[in-house]
Amino acid sequence: MSSDTSPSMAPLLVRQARWIAHDVLELRLTRPEGGALPPWEPGAHIELTLPSGLRRAYSLCGNPADADVWTVAVHRVPDGRGGSREIHDTALVGRELEVRGPVNRFPLLPAKGYLLLAGGIGITPLLPMARELTAQGLPWRLVLGARDRSRLAYADDLVELGGDRVLLVPQDESGLPDLAAEIAAAPPGHAVYACGPTPMLDAVMSLCRTAYTERFAPGDEGTQAMGAEAEFEVVLCRSGLRTTVPADRSVLDVVRELLPTVPYSCEEGYCGSCETPVTAGVPDHRDTVIDPSERATATTMMICVSRSASAVLELDL
Ligand code: FES
Repeated sequence: MSSDTSPSMAPLLVRQARWIAHDVLELRLTRPEGGALPPWEPGAHIELTLPSGLRRAYSLCGNPADADVWTVAVHRVPDGRGGSREIHDTALVGRELEVRGPVNRFPLLPAKGYLLLAGGIGITPLLPMARELTAQGLPWRLVLGARDRSRLAYADDLVELGGDRVLLVPQDESGLPDLAAEIAAAPPGHAVYACGPTPMLDAVMSLCRTAYTERFAPGDEGTQAMGAEAEFEVVLCRSGLRTTVPADRSVLDVVRELLPTVPYSCEEGYCGSCETPVTAGVPDHRDTVIDPSERATATTMMICVSRSASAVLELDL
């Protein structure tokens, strides 16, 4: 595990924007002068710096074979943290954005076959996976759920790609996807990849402890279960600073007030940008970067979402 060291790139041009589903805008980015971009593999994401300075990470959802173009799709969330609203409400075509990456923390690992489970905009990393598995001639099945048909992003591409290997589940017609049945029907040796809102991923993890998951921001897709959080102290060893993390704020929020250059990106625990070494205390890991089996021995934590199980947490900052 390492910090996100993706290189800072020259700005990329927003070459095209198009609606691909209700409230979902697809952006295609190229070098301003054209030419090949760094290669990427399914599961990778990039980080865009928006005109306001907000930085947001999005999965690449195009075809890695299209070397000149990076494609992302962004779901508009009216009450989100502002990134998707800015992308939807700003005329970005023709503008240049700073782009970092690609980084892949959700790679396809070898398996006999694959069950891909997507909720809403969670289809974005799984679409290139389905393409890749098709190209490799490996067995796969994909289930995509959304509130209604108009929100099933890339449905036509998926059906064209996979035919009856693709199950589209508009919730207003068919209810929620039967994840238990899908997972039970997956043959032995098949890997389960899931991407979507937190409640869906929690359901997948409870049915299948070894699923590979990527979580989308609660503000982007679903609702976050809010428990009663405790406040705790954070000591920044290298800076010699000490502060309190209140119940309703993240470690990252509080640390940024003291150290404005601390790296971060997704703020949802999936990109790894804010990974920070822990020198003392007991982190309460809530990210999806560190494998649950490694949490007990992890020496780092994602300070954007993880908290502390001890009264004091010391960070190497
Ligand atoms: S900012 Fe992405 S994991 Fe913390």
